[in-house]
Amino acid sequence: MGQLFQRRANAIATLIVVGVPLLIIATAAAMFALGRSDYMTGVGVPLEQPVPFSHKHHVADDGIDCRYCHTSVENSGFAGLPPTETCMTCHSQLFKDAPVLQPVRDSWQTHQPIKWQRVHDLPDYVYFDHSIHVNKGVGCATCHGAVNEMPLTFKTQELYMRWCLSCHRDPAKFIRPKNEVFNMTYAAPSDQHSLGQELLATNHVHTAGLTDCYTCHR
Ligand code: HEC
Ligand code: HEC
Ligand code: HEC
Ligand code: HEC
Ligand code: HEC
Repeated sequence: MGQLFQRRANAIATLIVVGVPLLIIATAAAMFALGRSDYMTGVGVPLEQPVPFSHKHHVADDGIDCRYCHTSVENSGFAGLPPTETCMTCHSQLFKDAPVLQPVRDSWQTHQPIKWQRVHDLPDYVYFDHSIHVNKGVGCATCHGAVNEMPLTFKTQELYMRWCLSCHRDPAKFIRPKNEVFNMTYAAPSDQHSLGQELLATNHVHTAGLTDCYTCHR
């Protein structure tokens, strides 16, 4: 009887000694995987919006320029989202009774802006500025992917610090001629390596200090 108890206790002790750390490791691994999964980071997952706005229709099919709606992207930190007036310049005539545009008409009548869900949203302790990137030759598609083909908008990057740093360490890998920033189908040429070095000079890119903490956390 004593013998049996002894063995059982050993088995339980072994289970605790081996099992508990294993369980902790497994839980940590699962949480890490979940944290990095598209579900948690939002990569590739379109958000539910008050109006199912399609960049594919407006940009790729109808040829409207990004700056028509994101008016401040070249000269301020914030790209800007279009006010209801912008939609109404076309939709007071076009599809003017379509049910899908009811929230746009409501917003127009009540003067309450449409409440777009933020697709990209950096934490408040990170400083970001569109204009400097756009003016130094970083394309919209480099950071946002092929927005022009999205029926509903989603992000294509997690926006982790290491992603920002991967470019800040060596922007020559990604930089374009300035007149290609809005070109959504631009492909890096095979001589990007040497072209990138030249463009750093032509676009007046200051690489010093780009990885300093203070650049993004101020
Ligand atoms: C006709 C107006 C219009 C045009 C043109 C347009 N957009 Fe947008 N864009 C919107 C609206 C409205 C939203 C908010 C709804 C959404 O996220 O889809 C938006 C959202 C976005 C977002 C996500 C913003 C966030 O919440 O983080 C990005 C990125 C974006 N647009 C990039 C572009 C790029 C790049 C172009 C040009 C290739 C472009 N847009 C052209 C109207 C427009
Ligand atoms: C320059 C004119 C223009 C502006 C500005 C514009 N639209 Fe449109 N919109 C169109 C056209 C053209 C279509 C038809 C698109 C198609 O089917 O190719 C359309 C279609 C739509 C549709 C129907 C579904 C679809 O995508 O086909 C929705 C919803 C819509 N627009 C929302 C908006 C919103 C919201 C805004 C403001 C942020 C806006 N539009 C601004 C021209 C415009
Ligand atoms: C260097 C990367 C980068 C480039 C280049 C870039 N964006 Fe963004 N964009 C971001 C980040 C990061 C955010 C989220 C900002 C935040 O949460 O404060 C964002 C947010 C946005 C938003 C939401 C409104 C805002 O300003 O927060 C729109 C619209 C947008 N970008 C459009 C564009 C367009 C159009 C272009 C090209 C002219 C462009 N972006 C180029 C990284 C970039
Ligand atoms: C694809 C390349 C690329 C990516 C990705 C990128 N940047 Fe930049 N960033 C640049 C370049 C190029 C400059 C311009 C440097 C100069 O000439 O001053 C810049 C400048 C900046 C500046 C301005 C520094 C100043 O002196 O005002 C800030 C802030 C910044 N980036 C933040 C970010 C953050 C935050 C992210 C990630 C969310 C990011 N960047 C992602 C290329 C990039
Ligand atoms: C090019 C822009 C950029 C630079 C330079 C930068 N960071 Fe960040 N940092 C970010 C962004 C974007 C985030 C938020 C996204 C994330 O959590 O990765 C962040 C998040 C953080 C966080 C909190 C989130 C976490 O859990 O990692 C810390 C701490 C941090 N940064 C410290 C630093 C330090 C220290 C430096 C200098 C050695 C630095 N950063 C330089 C862009 C930057």
